[in-house]
Amino acid sequence: MSQDIWNAVDTFIVDTVVGRDAVLEGALEAASVAGLPAISVSPAQGKLLYLLARLQGSRNILEVGTLAGYSTIWLARAMPRYGRLITLELDPSHAAVARENIERAGFSDVVDIRVGAALDLLTEMTQAKKEVPYDFVFIDADKKNIPEYFQLVLKLSKPGTVIVVDNVVREGKLADASSDDEAVQAVRRFHEMLAQERRVSATTLQTVGSKGYDGFSVVMVHE
Ligand code: SAH
Ligand code: DHB
Ligand code: MG
Repeated sequence: MSQDIWNAVDTFIVDTVVGRDAVLEGALEAASVAGLPAISVSPAQGKLLYLLARLQGSRNILEVGTLAGYSTIWLARAMPRYGRLITLELDPSHAAVARENIERAGFSDVVDIRVGAALDLLTEMTQAKKEVPYDFVFIDADKKNIPEYFQLVLKLSKPGTVIVVDNVVREGKLADASSDDEAVQAVRRFHEMLAQERRVSATTLQTVGSKGYDGFSVVMVHE
């Protein structure tokens, strides 16, 4: 049981329940042509983000880690036209590719791409008094800062906010207390934080598929 069968099943899932989509496939193609790494969420994961944001009734979404805007487009599609999405990206060349993809998807008026280090941008956002709390947050930037991103995002949340955090299982290294990989240490610390934080309720799902063996956390803020 491994990568070949996970790929075959993801292909079947795309061909059936997710559906093929020229705009989203074009966004991945543009990312590839621009030389960006192929680390966007998979189509099945993108559709899950879309479904969660729609279920939640999101009108105000925050994303940390834009890359080419693939997950951004899935999330933007989950909102009514008056929804707003802010997405944070360190690399100006990634942001430029995302800007074009988002334009082609028809969401230039919905999505605000902010270029900079997410720690700085999130800190500024927590200090800007007019920044409204977000309904839905997707954390998917550098992994070593996940605990810090989560703490800052909590300050931008309200009861009912849903926070999804990608890449937290890391081929099972999440369970390896002796790992010296800083991303592994960060996702372990993040889980310990969730366990201690009485304002949230959370779980983590392990996943296999076209992106290998990984997983994501789903967190609900309840007070
Ligand atoms: N969410 C995207 C994939 C994001 S990949 C999708 O699924 O389509 C991770 C992105 O985070 C990369 O584009 C990387 O440049 C960006 N990133 C890395 N470190 C960052 C930081 N410190 N601040 C903001 N963005 C960062
Ligand atoms: C990487 C980042 C991601 O967000 C992801 O889903 C997979 C890989 C990476 O930086 O390698
Ligand atoms: Mg990811």
